[in-house]
This record gives sequence, C-alpha cells and structure tokens, in this order.
Amino acid sequence: MIIDMASVKNRIDELRDALHQHNYNYYVLNQPEISDKEFDDMMYELQQLEKKHPEYIDENSPTMRVGSDLNKNFTQVYHKYPMLSLGNTYSEAEVTEFYERIKKTINEDFEICCEIKFDGTSISLTYENGSLVQAVTRGDGEKGDDVTNNVKTIKSIPLRLHGNNYPPLFEIRGEILMPWKIFDALNEEREAREEPLFANPRNAASGTLKLQNSSIVASRKLDAYLYYLLGDNLPYDGHYENLQAAATWGFKISDATKKCTSLQEIFDYINFWDIERKNLPVATDGVVLKVNSIAQQKQLGYTAKSPRWAIAYKFQAERATTRLNTVTYQVGRTGAVTPVANLDPVQLSGTIVKRASLHNADIIEALDLHIGDMVYVEKGGEIIPKITGVDMEARGFMHGEKVKFITNCPECGTRLIRFEGEAAFYCPNEATCPPQIKGRIEHFISRKAMNIDGMGPETVDLLYRNKLINNASDLYNLTVDDINGLDRMGLKSAKKIIEGIEASKKTPFERVIFALGIRFVGETVAKRLAKSFKSIEDLEQANLENLINVDEIGSKIAQSIIEFFSVKANQNIVENLKNAGLNLEQSFDESPNKTNKLEGKSIVISGVFKHHSRDEYKNLIELNGGKNVGSISSKTSFILAGDNMGPSKLEKAQKLGISLLNEEEFLELLS
Ligand code: IVH
Repeated sequence: MIIDMASVKNRIDELRDALHQHNYNYYVLNQPEISDKEFDDMMYELQQLEKKHPEYIDENSPTMRVGSDLNKNFTQVYHKYPMLSLGNTYSEAEVTEFYERIKKTINEDFEICCEIKFDGTSISLTYENGSLVQAVTRGDGEKGDDVTNNVKTIKSIPLRLHGNNYPPLFEIRGEILMPWKIFDALNEEREAREEPLFANPRNAASGTLKLQNSSIVASRKLDAYLYYLLGDNLPYDGHYENLQAAATWGFKISDATKKCTSLQEIFDYINFWDIERKNLPVATDGVVLKVNSIAQQKQLGYTAKSPRWAIAYKFQAERATTRLNTVTYQVGRTGAVTPVANLDPVQLSGTIVKRASLHNADIIEALDLHIGDMVYVEKGGEIIPKITGVDMEARGFMHGEKVKFITNCPECGTRLIRFEGEAAFYCPNEATCPPQIKGRIEHFISRKAMNIDGMGPETVDLLYRNKLINNASDLYNLTVDDINGLDRMGLKSAKKIIEGIEASKKTPFERVIFALGIRFVGETVAKRLAKSFKSIEDLEQANLENLINVDEIGSKIAQSIIEFFSVKANQNIVENLKNAGLNLEQSFDESPNKTNKLEGKSIVISGVFKHHSRDEYKNLIELNGGKNVGSISSKTSFILAGDNMGPSKLEKAQKLGISLLNEEEFLELLS
C-alpha cells in the first residue's frame, strides 16, 4: 500500500486545528459546538495517526494536554496528586479488552468497581482533621483554581466530617453538578431576563463555580457526588470500601456504585444504567470501571494521562426518530442564513424537541433530506438537538420534495451569496434586511457589549417596528416619551430603558469596539485593538499593515475591520456614537500607571499629536497628579507641544521662558 505522506500530515494538521478550536469553545467559551462523541472520535483519530507517524509529534498537539479551566480571578493551587483524566470508550469490545488486559497483568482475582459517570465539573477537596480546608478545580490537571468559598455553599459537601475514623489528612474528588430541575428553572429565569441560556447542566455548574459572588453560587443549589479518595492513611485497600466509609463521614456517594467480578456483570450494570439513568436527578454520560484493590491499582499504574486501572464507557447520545415537516431559514446579524428543521414534537433526554439545527446547505445535501422524512434527532451535551440521519426504509414511494437550500433571503428577498471556502450562505443586504439590522442592535446592547439594562431582543423589535431605531446609534436619541405607551410598555420600563442607555455611555472603549459588531472582532480582539489604537479615529485610519502588527490579528480580521470602516453607514454610526458621548478612546483611568510625577505642575497642551488625543493627554496629566490649564502664564510649568503649535502661544512661551516638551519627551518623563 502506498501511503500519501502529505495527506497524512494534512489530516493531522486539520485535526489539530479543529481540536484546538473545540477545546477553546468548550473550556474557555463554555460553548461547545460538537458532541463529546465527535470530539472524542477526532481525538482518537489524531492519537492513532500520531502513534503511527511519530515523525509528526508536536509538543503543542491537543493530544498533549488535558484541557484547562483556569480562571485568572482565583488563586491557583498545585494539586498534591495530579488530576488525571480517564481513558474513554464507546465500544463494548474495548471494555472487554480492558478487562482482559487487567486479568493478564494482575494474574490473580480482582474486582471491578462500577460507577456512574457524572457529567458535571470535577473538584478536589482536602480535609484536615475532619474539616474542609481547600476545594480546587481540575484546571489543567496539575494546578487548578481555589474555589473553596464557593464550594462551601454546596450543601451536600460536609464542612466537618461525622464520626472519628477518617484519616487526619486526605483528599476526596468528585463531581459538582447542577440537578436538571435547578438547571431548567435557572434557564427559564434567564430567558425571562433575556440573558443567554446555559447549554447544559455541566456548563451551568462550572460557570456557577467560577462566579466571584458566592452568595449567587449558594442560590444556584449545586450538588456533589464524590467518587475517589486519595491519601496515605485510607481505612481499606478497597476503593469501594473506602467510598462506603466516606459515606459514613457525611459525603454523598452514589448508591449506584457496585462491585462486579465478571464481564457479564459489568455489561449488565452498563445496560441497566443506560436506561435507568434517565430517572436520575443529575446528568450522566457513562459508567466508570475501576479496579477495586488499591494495591492492584498500584501494580497496574498510569500512562502519562490516565490510570491503567480505570476506564470510562460513555453512553451513546440519546436518539429519537420523528417526522420532518418543514425547513425554515433564520437570518443572523452577519447575514448568515441558518436552516432549521421543524419536526413533529418528540421526547428526547427529558425535553420535548420541535426544532433542530441543520447547520448549512452541505449538511442538508449530505443527508439527502426530503420533506416528510423520518429523521434521527440526537442531543449530545448540547441543548440544541441536531439531525444525524434519515430512516431511508421509512421513506415510501410518495415521499415529499427534496429539501433545497433557498436562493433568496427569506426576509428581504435579496439573492444569497456564498464566500469562498465557507459553508454558509449570506444575505448581502446589510443595509435594509430587518433581522440583520435588529441582530446588530441586539449584539450592541448585549451583556458582554454595552450591557444595556432593561432591554432585550423583544424591545429592539418593538422599537424597530415603530421606526424609532434603525441602528445602534439611534438608541442615544430616544426619550422616555418615545417609548412610553408603545405596545406593553409602561412609564417605569421606559424610564429604565433610557437610564440603561444613559449608563451605557460609560462602557469602556474596548467593549464599545466589540459592540460595533465588526465581523471576526470578538471580545479578545476588541481588547487588543483598544490597547493598540487608543482611539476610534486611530482605528478607522489604520491600514492593513498597522492592523496585522497587532498581536493575534491576521489578515482576515484586519481586512474585515478595514471593510467595516469603509462603509459610509458605519462611519455615520461611529460619528453619532461619538457625539452621544460614548467612550471612543482608551481612558487612562484604569491604567495602572498612576503616579505623582506631575504633582504641582500646571501644563498647557497645544498643537496636534501623533500618539494620543488631546483628551487622552489631559487624562494622563491628571492621572499623574498634574493640572491641565488652558492658557499660558508665568505659573505654567511647561507646555506639552505637538505639531503646528499656534505662533502666538509659541511667542508667549518664549517670552516667559517656559519650556516646551514634545510628545515623546513627555511620555518619557512619565515612563
Ligand atoms: S474517577 C483517576 N469516577 O470523568 C480517575 N471520574 O475523564 C479519576 N467523572 O475528570 C476520576 N464520574 O470529572 C471518576 N465516577 C467517576 C466519575 C468521574 C465522572 C469525571 C471526572 C473526571 C472525568 C474523567
């Protein structure tokens, strides 16, 4: 067989890029886009390719790390024992292999402790003399965030242990979970407040654990199951027996934990819990099989990432079959058109599913979808279910029409376009396509952007329909009278909206950049831009080279920024926002470089500057203890002089013997 090495390398690179991105979506954004199974499959394929082709091994490959959930707002703590992950499988054959391997290595009787695999966020708790002293997240496996204060709010975690036969010092690990009931109620509340929903209880639990305010954590009613003890003086050699002891000390240990002594018993356990888990109050995604004896565990040892004495068998995502009735199309703020399948309602993982995302035209084509088809719907870790296949046998002679992606925008009729190399179709009518206009305003007011209190998509729709707003800057012309009396809008709400809009004027520059909704400019890029360009004028005037020079900004983002500012309508919006008094330059208030280097100094600013605007220099003077004065007098300490300083000022300065500092000298003075 001839192996095409270039294509092997291409596939490796492709998998690495995709896995890096999915890791980021999962761990940083908390917004996974693919199911665990798809992720695990890709990871498995990459591991196999790297094993076969060691010449392509890379220290930074996603296979080399176990992910990270570190958060800069918490103190980081090194784990005494690293928090490893488990080898995963979806195949019963691999469970058999695992079992046989152990049998061969140990060569004596052994027991397997079977447990539920809880789908939450893992935690390591340290107890000293019966008291909880520290709770640390998994982080990157070596060090995690100290979230002790938040964990203390979880009622099922004992702060003081019961009895007296616990070791003086030990760690116990487990999973923090948000029960389904609490999760559903929380999302309902968030929906009512028009806040973004949590995709699943796992994200809700990990997000909650990272909140800075532990009273909110307490209100979220998290739960915890513990499943692993570590320490020098554990009471028994058996993992199961130690867990039962821990139950008597006050820990919540799952009743589903069971010791098995044959493969058949293990499979019975798996099959039983694959069904029965639907009745559990918390999310689960598999079972964990562990060699019970700690002495035998030691004998089996560890690979670089996981113990050889344990394996996780993951359940297949739940699947339901239902009828496809219609396909409708949604237009987002960027003009991207997303196809949505409308289905006969069907019960799936505890919720009723009526709609599913179809992602893009290629996916519809690959599924060979016809109206009336019986389709398979799956819900992995995500809230939004997706269609994974068609039951071809159920398609009769009289099947419905083949689903063809629309050619024109369903909202404004404009012919759709497709960018090279992209799967999505776009409506190019940015100027007058209603969902694009509303989508941009919704993005502008959203929590991570201008965070305008009292407003959500419904208010945007109401104001747009009443022709009160057509872009974000129109918000700043609204009055209470404009809004009061509109459909279901009272004086109180109207006032709240106007107050929210007013308050948003204080939003920092970087968030205003993010709020503009420039394609590919997310929060991080916006921060970088604010740091590098200081003012919106600087950013508007930046050329490709200036932009690419900024860390993490490549030509795709740079081009998009240039394109954005070249559109007259966008220039007008920026101008209007500036006039409304938004922060369109980097304020120095938050700068850590506060000094008293200019204390007692009166400084006149004159001329045109390259590096910062006048206002920024004014702020800088004040921040460093000086006073900015308008006209030159004998009391003036010096003049911060830019280019083209007026001749009369120059003459006066010379007459009074007042020195001139240019921009560079002034910045040097402060540095
Ligand atoms: S034992 C060294 N037991 O699954 C083994 N883990 O990929 C330590 N998990 O990070 C883990 N239920 O968050 C173990 N009954 C269970 C579990 C469990 C869920 C999670 C845990 C871990 C991940 C492993």
